[in-house]
Amino acid sequence: MMWQRLFKGWCVLSMTLLLSACANTAKEPSLYEALGQQAGIDKITHQLILNFARDERVKHRFKGVNMQKFKAGFVTYVCAIVEGPCQYKGDDMKTIHSGYRFTNTEFNAVVDNLILAMERCAIPVSTQNRLLAKLAPSYDDVVYR
Ligand code: HEM
Repeated sequence: MMWQRLFKGWCVLSMTLLLSACANTAKEPSLYEALGQQAGIDKITHQLILNFARDERVKHRFKGVNMQKFKAGFVTYVCAIVEGPCQYKGDDMKTIHSGYRFTNTEFNAVVDNLILAMERCAIPVSTQNRLLAKLAPSYDDVVYR
């Protein structure tokens, strides 16, 4: 019957509108938010530094480095690249790292330690991967060839 078909059509249309409205409101949190904002990035970096101190592959690299300055710089750098409300005003990654001739193994060790730090801070794997994807392009500036 005509009115039944009209009713069915109306139902389908309103369900479609409802679903698309839901899709629009369920916005993914920004990476900055997903990492727990400033406090979250701070905790991750704190844990990262503890991990460096236990890792034979890299701990000697941080001997004599002012770790308070490193922590502040690293937190601001991460905050800035995840579009948080920070401006990183330090030297670029190439200038900072080039004199050290860091290896591929050392880069991987830093990434391992960052993953462990994020695990420790209960950051979901999908968020971890979002941050790692932002850091991956720095490989060419950090590793010596
Ligand atoms: C994902 C790659 C990396 C990123 C995003 C990164 C980021 C940074 C940042 C932002 C700073 C400056 C901190 C400050 O303001 O003092 C820094 C410094 C430093 N990084 Fe990296 N880094 C990376 C890889 C590495 C690797 C593989 C090593 C070797 C183990 C390393 C060792 C150092 C050291 C020793 C410093 C201190 C330099 C100094 O004060 O002279 N980094 N890093």
